[in-house]
Amino acid sequence: TAMLEHPATEANLALLRSRGVQVLDSPSGALTGADVGRGRMAEPEDIAEAVFIALDRLGATKPTGDLEGFDVLVTAGGTREPLDPVRFLGNASSGKQGFAIARAAAQRGAKVTTIAAPSSEPFPKVGEVVQVTTALEMEAAVKRAAPRMDLVVMAAAVADYRPVKSEDTKIKRAGRETMQLELMANPDILAGLIANRRPGQVIVGFAAETGDRSASAVSYAASKARSKGADLTVGNAVTGGAVFGSDANAVVIFDSKGRRVAAAEGPKAQVADAILDAAKALLPGE
Ligand code: C5P
Repeated sequence: TAMLEHPATEANLALLRSRGVQVLDSPSGALTGADVGRGRMAEPEDIAEAVFIALDRLGATKPTGDLEGFDVLVTAGGTREPLDPVRFLGNASSGKQGFAIARAAAQRGAKVTTIAAPSSEPFPKVGEVVQVTTALEMEAAVKRAAPRMDLVVMAAAVADYRPVKSEDTKIKRAGRETMQLELMANPDILAGLIANRRPGQVIVGFAAETGDRSASAVSYAASKARSKGADLTVGNAVTGGAVFGSDANAVVIFDSKGRRVAAAEGPKAQVADAILDAAKALLPGE
């Protein structure tokens, strides 16, 4: 503390700040001697988070503070449906776009809750983070949190089906050349949210689509926007899997009638801002 509060250190830190350098606060706690107080190194995960946010904001277009007073729920990552204690059915979602939305919403002043399915990416260190594994766990967490939310963004890739039975012990190969899995439908969390929404609540869904011979990914996303009826549907083409794990994304945003309201392409932080801009325009008071 004596070093940190020394006039020379304070003057040097002030000079760095005046040049635009972001200085992390030094936490309080046990120091190297018998003394206790400010002057510890920031925790590595707090340093990493500050770097992620600073990098995100490099691509961001929005000032902070315009979502102050709003509660925002973001789901992210890809659910896992267990087959046995060591295997699961999963998907290629990295969680990066959802985490970027959570960070951007927090930077813009919202009170953020993230419901995170498994992801190897660093979780946002903003607001509250609830970790879940399966679609059913995600549904329960969403149901608990949703009533107090102004905005819900369902960016998670939720498994449409889960194994009818998850074995207690590891399934043995036992010489079998083929194996059949029986699956049953998971609840559609987004549909449940839309059915039980409270007045004024804004709900955003995602539609990750691939194009085929009869229609493009974008037109499949537009028809999903109409059939699911979320206030906004963020369509992205995932043909070839290029989006998963990438730092960039390209999306078209549709309203509940399938009309195109915005499009964004670039770093996921920038796409996050575009999604939040479109959602904010629908929030009360806009
Ligand atoms: O129909 P599809 O799965 O493509 O819809 C995608 C949207 O629906 C995403 O917002 C996803 O989070 C949500 N979803 C859901 N529950 C499911 C499947 C998808 O909430 N079981």
